Amino acid sequence: MTTEGERFDRFMERALYAPETGFFTSGRGSAGRRGDFLTSVEVGPLFGAVMARMLDTEWDRHDRPATFTVVDAGAGVGTLLRSILAAEPRCAGALDLVAVEIARTQHPGLPPQVRSSDEVPRVEVGVVIANELLDNLPVRVLERTSEGWRELHVVEGRAVVRPTELVGPDEVPVGARIPIAEAAVGWVRTTLDRIDSGRLVVIDYGADTAELARRPAAGWLRTYRSHGRGGPPEEDPGSQDITYDVPFDQLPGGTRTTQAGWLRRHGIDALVDEGRRIWAERAAVADLGALRARSRVREAEALVDPAGLGGFVVAEWQRPDL
Ligand SMILES: C[S@@+](CC[C@H](N)C(=O)[O-])C[C@H]1O[C@@H](n2cnc3c(N)ncnc32)[C@H](O)[C@@H]1O
Repeated sequence: MTTEGERFDRFMERALYAPETGFFTSGRGSAGRRGDFLTSVEVGPLFGAVMARMLDTEWDRHDRPATFTVVDAGAGVGTLLRSILAAEPRCAGALDLVAVEIARTQHPGLPPQVRSSDEVPRVEVGVVIANELLDNLPVRVLERTSEGWRELHVVEGRAVVRPTELVGPDEVPVGARIPIAEAAVGWVRTTLDRIDSGRLVVIDYGADTAELARRPAAGWLRTYRSHGRGGPPEEDPGSQDITYDVPFDQLPGGTRTTQAGWLRRHGIDALVDEGRRIWAERAAVADLGALRARSRVREAEALVDPAGLGGFVVAEWQRPDL
């Protein structure tokens, strides 16, 4: 970096993904864990079990093809794919499982059924899932000043605003900052182009741009370090996670729902009821199966909590477009 500094998204990319020194690529960032709470994938196997039901529905809808590709984008240590396999979906025999992870050298030891890739491969028929990926892609940050729009840069560890070619929405008041999710938009477009037939499912925290503009930037642009909140984002690149609330309205089309609603649509309640029944039958034995069944109740509470993971957004796209 020169003393001229760099645009915030380029700084963020370097801070998180520079070879050897980035927060994720150095192995400092343990994917999946966020501060004092966990991603849905890391809460336990229930999230993957619901995903497995969704995959069976999609596989049926495509008349049960012999090969059904499932890509986990931003797979971290591969927990989601492991949970999907453990749930033994009906489509198991057709599954071509792919883990896409930019910091994959940090995450050896995927199950043998899973192939690893640097980018989303072509999907003839199947599903691409991205849980908490978009919030970690580099983001541009605009500020509305009394002189017009300015863009956040980082110069020698300090945040400064400079003129920009970008223009934000009219309704944003002077003094407010908004994210411009150029990389996330590009990722969604590229990924949709790679799916011949199937679905893209993106799950993340976020809101519309107008709502984020009403919050202080320190609310929607956050850092985490050692399982707690970190310092200012421009500080000590590589030492902390940088993440932002995804402005979902900037993504191209698709449908949106809450994580709680989406999990219910795909049968979380039936899985919890089944867990309760198994526990009631086998509590006296208290074997691993019985304990797992009981844990579904607690996992479900966390996954559908409207003030937490349940309030996350699930955005979906169908290919080819209907
Ligand atoms: C917050 S973690 C989420 C991990 C996992 N999906 C989960 O829900 O627990 C985000 C992951 O995305 C990875 N990542 C970031 N940009 C990526 C990209 N362009 N392609 C693939 N993986 C990426 C990061 O290295 C990190 O492991």
